Amino acid sequence: MRTPIIAGNWKLNKTISEAVALTTELRDLVAGSKGVEIVVAPPFTALDAVSKVVNGSNIRLAAQDVYWEDSGAFTGEVSVPMLKDIGCDYVIIGHSERRQYFAETNQTVNQKVQAALSHNLKPILCVGELLEEREAGHTEKVVESHVTGGIKGLIETELLSCVIAYEPVWAIGTGKTATPDQAQDVHKYIRDLITNTYSKDVASQICIQYGGSVKPENAAELMTQPDVDGALVGGASLNAESFAQIVKHAL
Ligand code: 13P
Repeated sequence: MRTPIIAGNWKLNKTISEAVALTTELRDLVAGSKGVEIVVAPPFTALDAVSKVVNGSNIRLAAQDVYWEDSGAFTGEVSVPMLKDIGCDYVIIGHSERRQYFAETNQTVNQKVQAALSHNLKPILCVGELLEEREAGHTEKVVESHVTGGIKGLIETELLSCVIAYEPVWAIGTGKTATPDQAQDVHKYIRDLITNTYSKDVASQICIQYGGSVKPENAAELMTQPDVDGALVGGASLNAESFAQIVKHAL
């Protein structure tokens, strides 16, 4: 049985005081929720403050990106040991915004995934096609390259520490959610890919989240799909009430 994971990707939003207020409200709203992994991913500047608010609660902390070297002359970067030190359990890697605006490739994504795993930080590996790729019938090809490129070289136990987030780029921040059937088709495709490259056992255990305009109104229907194991939420995670409602739909 897979535990669903509901993660809030705050992107480039929230000052420290705003982040503390949002997390404190959320912590009270989801207190006692069991059977779901709840994760928030504030910007780097707010990680320390949010870490103190979630300490001892049922909310886990994630960063939105990481660099693959532990230390050294890499101005502006943040390493895996630094994120562990601050209390992160997860890190989002390969989000489409990083692929689009910051030249992230399957190769750099894979280096980050490997670095995270080497220090027991769990990667949330984001994969997903652009609108023109879907329209050209290339969804599976793109998703396959993101998945196989991102997890390249991982042994089974390492893969099982990863979460895969399917986020069709055309559904991110657009209000256009994939239909439950569209999401299910790609999630099943990813699970079959894992079956073929690893095993049915590994595929049946790995958590595959959906992301892209998830809101309280559409979360329940998406999460009843057999291969959808939770959500990676952007805009709706910036409001404690709406994020908490999405968490409740995963129970
Ligand atoms: P939205 O929920 O705002 O569409 O963002 C999804 C996302 O990119 C989460 O990582």
